[in-house]
Amino acid sequence: MTEARKLYIKTYGCQMNVYDSERMAEALGASGYTVTDTPEQADMILLNTCHIREKAAEKVYSELGRLKPLKTANPDLKIGVAGCVAQAEGEEIMRRQPLVDLVVGPQTYHRLPAMEQAVRAGERAVDTDFPEEDKFEHLPKGPRMKRSPAAFLTVQEGCDKFCAFCVVPYTRGAEVSRPVARVLREARDLVDRGVREITLLGQNVNAYHGEGEGGTWGLARLIRELARIEGLERIRFTTSHPNDMEDDLIAAHGDEPKLMPYLHLPVQSGSDRILKAMNRKHTAEQYLCLIDRLRAARPDLLLSGDFIVGFPGETDQDFEATLALVRAVGYGQAFSFKYSARPGTPAAEREGVPEDVASDRLQRLQALLSQQQRDVQRSMIGREVSVLFEKPGRLPGQMVGKSEYLHAVHVTDPRVETGQIARVRITEAAPNSLGGVLVA
Ligand code: SAH
Ligand code: SF4
Ligand code: F3S
Repeated sequence: MTEARKLYIKTYGCQMNVYDSERMAEALGASGYTVTDTPEQADMILLNTCHIREKAAEKVYSELGRLKPLKTANPDLKIGVAGCVAQAEGEEIMRRQPLVDLVVGPQTYHRLPAMEQAVRAGERAVDTDFPEEDKFEHLPKGPRMKRSPAAFLTVQEGCDKFCAFCVVPYTRGAEVSRPVARVLREARDLVDRGVREITLLGQNVNAYHGEGEGGTWGLARLIRELARIEGLERIRFTTSHPNDMEDDLIAAHGDEPKLMPYLHLPVQSGSDRILKAMNRKHTAEQYLCLIDRLRAARPDLLLSGDFIVGFPGETDQDFEATLALVRAVGYGQAFSFKYSARPGTPAAEREGVPEDVASDRLQRLQALLSQQQRDVQRSMIGREVSVLFEKPGRLPGQMVGKSEYLHAVHVTDPRVETGQIARVRITEAAPNSLGGVLVA
C-alpha cells in the first residue's frame, strides 16, 4: 500500500492548464496522493507553467527560488515542473534549478505516476515527448475531484496555425482532436457528478475535427450532440480562431439554446498589414464581417477578444486601425498584451517597437477596452439574466455565479444554492461584477 502523500499544484496560464492540473491530481491520486492547498505540507509540488510571454516564463524560476527553503526543511519534498515552460525548456530547467526533480511536458502527463516512482527512488526525470497516444485516455483514474457546477473539458489540443508571435504550436504540438465518443463519455460523467455547464477547451477549439459516428465531426455537431445530455444546461467553448468559425457553428449560436451567448474571438490587431505579418491569414474586414454574421444569428452575443500591441513593425497608423476595430466591434470584455518576443518564433527575429511606444499604446487600448466593458456592465442594470451559482461570495450570505454572458453575478438571498440556475434582475454594476436580486 502506498501511504497518503500530499500534492500541491500551482497553475499558471490558460484554462487548458487548469484542466490538466485536475487530471494530474487525479492521476497522482491513484498513486496515493491527496491535494493540499498549503505548499508547506506537500510531499510533492508541481508548477504547471505557461510560456506565452516572457513574464509568464520568468515567474517559474522565481517561484522555484521561493520553494528552496521548503526543500531544505523537508529533503523528501519532490518538486516538478509541468506545462509549457517544461516543454520549451526541458533539461535547461534541470540545469538552472538543481532543486527540480521532475520535468514533464503537456503531452506526457499519463506517464507522471511512473515518473513519480522514479523520483521517489532518487532519480531526476524529464519527459517532453509528443507521444502518439491520447494522454487523457491513458491517465490512471484516481479518486475523482470535487466538482464545481461549471467544468472544463478539453476536446482539442495543439495548434497548426503558427501565428508569428506564438509559442503554442511548439509547446503543445500539432492540432489533435479527441474522438467524439470519449468527449461524450466524459461529459456524461461530469453531469452525473453535478456539473451543469461545460466549457469545451482547445487552443484552437473551433478547429475541432473528432472522429465520430459516420466520419469526422466539427465543433457545431459535437455541441448539438452534447446539448442532448439531460442535466447539462449550458455549453461554452474557448479559444477560437476567426478562420475556423464555420457556418454551422455560427448558426448554432442562433438555434442551440444551450450554447451560451458569449464568444471569445481573438483578433490581435486591426491593421491588415500587421495581421499579415502575424500570419493570422485574415483581414480586419473579414473579422468584422464575421462579427456581423454572428450577431445576426444571436443579436445579444457578448464578445471578448485578445490584442497584441507593439508587434514588430507596428506604426501609429496600424495601432489606430486596432482602436478603430475595437470601436466598431464593442467588446464586453477583452485581454490586451504588449508584444513579447518568444525564442524560436519567427517574429522574435524582427526588430521590435520601442518599449515606451508599446507601453503608451497598451495604455490607450486598455483605456478604450475598459470603457467598453464598463458601458456593457452598466447596460445590464435593470435587465434579467440567468445565473448558474457556483460558490459562496466574499460577503456573508452572498452567492456568486455566472450569467449566460459570463458576467460574474452576486446575489444575497438564503434561497440560493450552489448548482442552481435562477433568474436574476441586475441592480448594480461594477467593472468586473454585477449584483442582483432573484426574480420570484
Ligand atoms: N489560441 C488562442 C490563444 C493563444 S494565447 C488564439 O489563437 O487566440 C492567448 C493570447 O496571448 C493570444 O491570443 C495573444 O493575444 C497573446 N499572446 C500570444 N503570444 C504572445 C506574445 N508573444 N506576446 C504577447 N502576447 C501574446
Ligand atoms: Fe497561438 Fe495563433 Fe495558434 Fe492561437 S492560433 S495558439 S495565437 S499560433
Ligand atoms: Fe500558456 Fe501553454 Fe496555455 S503557453 S497560454 S499554458 S497553452
